[in-house]
Amino acid sequence: MLDEKGFDLWANGYDRAVGLSDESDSYPFAGYRAILNDIYCKVMSRPGCRVLEIGFGTGTLAKKLYDQGIEIYGQDFSQQMIDIAKEKMPDAHFYKGDFTDGLVGPLKQRKYDFITATYSLHHLNDSEKLVFLKELYNHLEEGGMIMIGDVAFETRAGLEKLREQEGDAFDDEEFYFAAEDFRDAFPSLRFEQKSVCGGIITIEKEISYGY
Ligand SMILES: C[S@@+](CC[C@H](N)C(=O)[O-])C[C@H]1O[C@@H](n2cnc3c(N)ncnc32)[C@H](O)[C@@H]1O
Repeated sequence: MLDEKGFDLWANGYDRAVGLSDESDSYPFAGYRAILNDIYCKVMSRPGCRVLEIGFGTGTLAKKLYDQGIEIYGQDFSQQMIDIAKEKMPDAHFYKGDFTDGLVGPLKQRKYDFITATYSLHHLNDSEKLVFLKELYNHLEEGGMIMIGDVAFETRAGLEKLREQEGDAFDDEEFYFAAEDFRDAFPSLRFEQKSVCGGIITIEKEISYGY
């Protein structure tokens, strides 16, 4: 699995590598643009909202939102990725930090309308995901949403089928999502398959009306 130095080295060629995989409709990034576009549209349906992006990378999604006046916060552990994103979005609030240890201090001081994570949370195993997702959920505004775009399936069987199909190309060091495994912890979780291997998980925080 890539560590922060690995992502530093990948940063400059990242957008091209993702684009090629998406265009050829192949694992791991098949559906990448469709996934980011769906998340973008959902966020834009709430103008003036605040977004926290986890593992923002070169800032492909964040930049589109930033250009529409959305307030952007983010956490990533690669200094190279942060430098690329910061150059595109000078007024965004980007912080360096390993999300294996949860959110960095300054990001814990706010709540967010959307918390987005595209192709980043698969660096956590499922029990680490659960801990981190619970922390993120606590930082959602009422009615807010966590939106995760990644290699993902509704069922574990779907994920295992991908592993078989890909053979040696399958990255066993990444922990992709089987949505069904997170429903007990997050009953509001919804899943939408967007490509042969990519999907969107949405976890919504309900509004409490206080009666
Ligand atoms: C594959 S890139 C995805 C970038 C972007 N979200 C996208 O959709 O193109 C994964 C990003 O997550 C970051 N990342 C991976 N593991 C991390 C960790 N443990 N803590 C913080 N950031 C991490 C990497 O530095 C990288 O920027």
